[in-house]
Formats: sequence, C-alpha cells, structure tokens
Amino acid sequence: MKFTSTLLLSSLAIGAVAEPTDWFPIWRPLVQSNQLRRVLYRTNLLKHADALAEHAKLSDGTRAFGSKGHNATVEYIQKKLEKTGYYDVELQTFKYLFSEGTANFTVPTGTTEKHYVTEWFTYGPAGSVKAPLVAVSDVGCTAANFPAEVKGNIALIKRGTCEFGMKIALAGAAGAAGAVIYNNADGPVGGGTLGQPSRPETGPYVPAGSISGVDGNALLAQMASGTVTGSVVVKAVNEDRYTSNVLATTKGGDKKNVVMAGGHTDSVPAGPGINDDGSGSMGILEIALQLPKWSVKNAVRFGFWTAEEYGLVGSEHWVTSLSKEQVSDIAVYLNFDMIASPNFGYFLYDGDGSAFNLTGPKGSDHIEHLFEDYFKEVGIKTAPTAFDGRSDYGPFLTAGIPSGGIFTGAEKLKTEEEAKWWGGRAGIAYDPNYHKAGDTKDNCNVGAWVENVKAAAHAIATYARDLNGIPRGVARPKLAKKQISHDQRRHSACGHALNSI
Ligand SMILES: *[C@@H]1O[C@H](CO)[C@@H](O)[C@H](O)[C@H]1NC(C)=O
Ligand SMILES: *[C@@H]1O[C@H](CO)[C@@H](O)[C@H](O)[C@H]1NC(C)=O
Ligand SMILES: *[C@@H]1O[C@H](CO)[C@@H](O)[C@H](O)[C@H]1NC(C)=O
Ligand SMILES: [Zn+2]
Repeated sequence: MKFTSTLLLSSLAIGAVAEPTDWFPIWRPLVQSNQLRRVLYRTNLLKHADALAEHAKLSDGTRAFGSKGHNATVEYIQKKLEKTGYYDVELQTFKYLFSEGTANFTVPTGTTEKHYVTEWFTYGPAGSVKAPLVAVSDVGCTAANFPAEVKGNIALIKRGTCEFGMKIALAGAAGAAGAVIYNNADGPVGGGTLGQPSRPETGPYVPAGSISGVDGNALLAQMASGTVTGSVVVKAVNEDRYTSNVLATTKGGDKKNVVMAGGHTDSVPAGPGINDDGSGSMGILEIALQLPKWSVKNAVRFGFWTAEEYGLVGSEHWVTSLSKEQVSDIAVYLNFDMIASPNFGYFLYDGDGSAFNLTGPKGSDHIEHLFEDYFKEVGIKTAPTAFDGRSDYGPFLTAGIPSGGIFTGAEKLKTEEEAKWWGGRAGIAYDPNYHKAGDTKDNCNVGAWVENVKAAAHAIATYARDLNGIPRGVARPKLAKKQISHDQRRHSACGHALNSI
C-alpha cells in the first residue's frame, strides 16, 4: 500500500505501517526475538520453495548460476526486498566462467560397443571424434612423446608428472582429434580439471576424457595386436556468465555495527536446489520480509550469494570487494546453507573449536553458544559440525569476521546415536538428494526448516539489539582477491577438490 506524505503523517498516529524513507523514518518498536519468530510461517516458506521450483523449470530443472532459473531467483529476492522500502538493495553483478560437461568413451566390439566409465575434465571442450587410438610414450608431458601417427587420431596418454591440461594441449598441438587419459593406478582418476580455461602457448584443447588404469592397460594390450578404434563424445558448456549477488541492508540501524546473515541462491546443474540452498536463502528472505515490522539498533544486512557451488565465488567476490573499514563494520556473519535436510541433524558450526579444533575468529564462540542456548531452551538437541569453510562463511572467516550458523547435513551418513536424538534413519545420508535432481520441496523436512529459520531469526534479532560478547573495534585487513582458478575451489562445497595432475 502506498501513502502520500500527508496520509503518512495521519496514518502514523494510528500506528499503521507505511513505507519509510531516509528522510522520514516511521517509528517502530525495537525488534525482539520472540516477536519476530512468531510471524515466521511455514506457509510462507513453502510459497518461496514453490517459487524456486518454478524458477528451476525455466532452465531444465536447475538454478545453476547464470541460468534463467537462477536469474529468476535473484530477481525474486530483489523485487520482494525492494518492495518493503526498508532496505537499500544492491545487486553486485560480475562475470564468471561456467564450465560443465560429460564425456563418453566407447570402443566397438563386434556387433555392440564397450562403454568405458569416463570422466570429463573441467574446461574440456565439447566435440565428438571416432578414430584409431595411438599410444603416447612416457606420460605425454613433452611434444616429443607424441608420435606423428597421433595426427587426426585419439591420443592415449598415461596420467602423471604434468597437468592434465598440459597433456591435452600437447595432444592438440600434435594434431590429435581427441584424447583419453588413463589413470596411473588401477581405479578411475576421480574427477579432474584441465587447470586453466585454455593454453594457447602450448596448443588447443581437444575433446577428452579419463578412464581407469585397468581399462587403459587393457586397451594398450589390445592395441599391441592391432588397431583399436575408439570414440570420444564430450558434451560441455564453457562460457562466461554474468551473475549477481543480492545485498540488502536496513536503512535504519548503526552501520558501524552490521549484523549479517547469508545463504546462496544458486543450485548445482543437476537439480533445483530446494534444500541446498533454497532452505537457507528463502529462510533469511522470509526473515528479511518480516523484519520491517520492527526497528533495529544495529544495521542488519542480508547477503544472497551466487555461484557458491563453484567454490564460494559470490561471497568471496563480495568480501574481497570491501574496504578495510567495510570489513571492520561487520560485527557478525551468520550462514544458513542446507537447513531442511530430509534426514536432518541439528548441527551448529563449531565456532569455539571445542569439537573439531577449527576455531573461528573471536566472537564465533559467542555465536555458537547463542544458538546452543536457544535450541536448549526450545528443547532441541544440537551437535557441532566442523567449521571448515565449506560454505559462504569461508571468506568471512578469512576476513576475521566472527561467524556461525546452522546446517542439517549433506552427504554424510546419520549415526545410530544421532537417529536416537533426532529420529530419521541411521546409515542413510542426511540428505540423500544432495546435489541431485531429487533436491525438491517434497524432499525437504519442513519441520526442521521452520525450527532453523526461527533459530536464525533469534540470532539476528538478538544481535540486532545488542552485540554484547562480540569483539568490536578490531581492525581487520583488506583482503586481496585470491588468484585461484575456479576449479581448485570448485566442489570444495562438496568436500572434494578436483585433481589437476
Ligand atoms: C542472467 O543475468 C545476467 C546478469 O544480469 C545476464 O547477463 C544474463 O544474460 C542472464 N542469463 C539468462 C540466461 O537470462
Ligand atoms: C554417454 O552415454 C550415456 C549412456 O549411453 C548417455 O546417457 C549419455 O548421454 C552419453 N553422454 C554423452 C556426453 O554422450
Ligand atoms: C589444534 O590445532 C592447533 C593448530 O592447528 C594445534 O597446534 C593443536 O595441537 C591442535 N589441538 C588438538 C587437541 O588437536
Ligand atoms: Zn549449499
């Protein structure tokens, strides 16, 4: 509802909520945890989840960063926050290389063909080639290892010594039409990257995949007794994409003592990402949409991060764009990434390091204890989870900002003891749909989601009133942009870095 300024004056007298402006903020009572929690409804969370599901439909079931689906989520958040009039809403748009693909390697055997278990390399180009295999000598780290017969054919190269990207570029330089790298141990390579988007100084990349050492050696034996023709088929997208973080800061409140809460807006390419991280991002969105009923003593800022799944890209981009002063102005950062896992646990980031010996910046202990006390009060058992920087709080830790948050678990298996505490099934992943197409609303545990959003609201409201216990006035360094290629950090979010050698 819009008011003219004269109406606004009279409406104030009867306590109606109107749109504030910087010039004429209306009076609101100071936020209180119990009051804020009381207006956080399950139905609103589910509406947001439905909206995200619709967004994913715009791009074949994903909200991966830079997709139409992800853009729709960013716009959804931005529009809703702007409409409140309570926040300064800002999009931080930047360019980032999207690289995703699959590879297949097959060899015809009589009437059918043998499918090899094949892995694609990040940055690997799309393409399709069917040609004889040619063995490369040694480990294919110098041009001299590539025989002339490689030209127009598929180079078969052993893993080792130099980067995969070097081998594939040397194959390209030798005129190979494709390449297969086999492992230097029996099993598969286990996921790999070419390390750099391109290597013009060495040669062009060619369509490539990796296979196990057992398969590679069997092929070499086969090739010793005659030509083996294989086929490499790579489907891949490697493109720069523009994408945005959304930052929303209350117009009111002390901007030298900012309370931050964040979650990521993107999903993995495989699915719609409703638990990961629709649950966290929509949880804090709903808090942000209800908060305008009150005022805050300390400014509250919500961060909606893009490209978390590619290695905390959005949050790091934002944190490293801050000045020293801006970093110092942030009192706490609260992270909410996966808070509705179907086979959930109530995990709190171990900010005091008591369980995992990974201690956050001073003040992180206070945040952990605040959550612990809250859950104790509402009668919910919690357990610590390693404060290992696996989500968007990572860059905040690096910046020395006290951090904390809640997590209901991903691919790890629930223990017998935990099943006794929280119900659910022991021996099953906390989220069996983690990073899969099945990460849908129906597979979220809405009960846990609501509890965790309330806990998030408790922390936000408490710190928005009072930062007692959080060290302030600590000068913090300006962070340099890290010169780390995206795949080194990519999948850090799923706990395994990609091999580049
Ligand atoms: C998504 O948004 C970005 C940044 O605003 C824009 O450059 C891009 O074209 C959009 N992508 C799609 C698929 O709509
Ligand atoms: C690889 O083969 C599988 C099984 O035949 C198929 O589903 C998939 O689409 C293929 N991928 C590529 C990149 O050709
Ligand atoms: C905890 O970590 C510190 C520094 O990483 C190390 O020096 C210390 O020995 C560790 N303590 C325990 C109990 O593992
Ligand atoms: Zn996540």
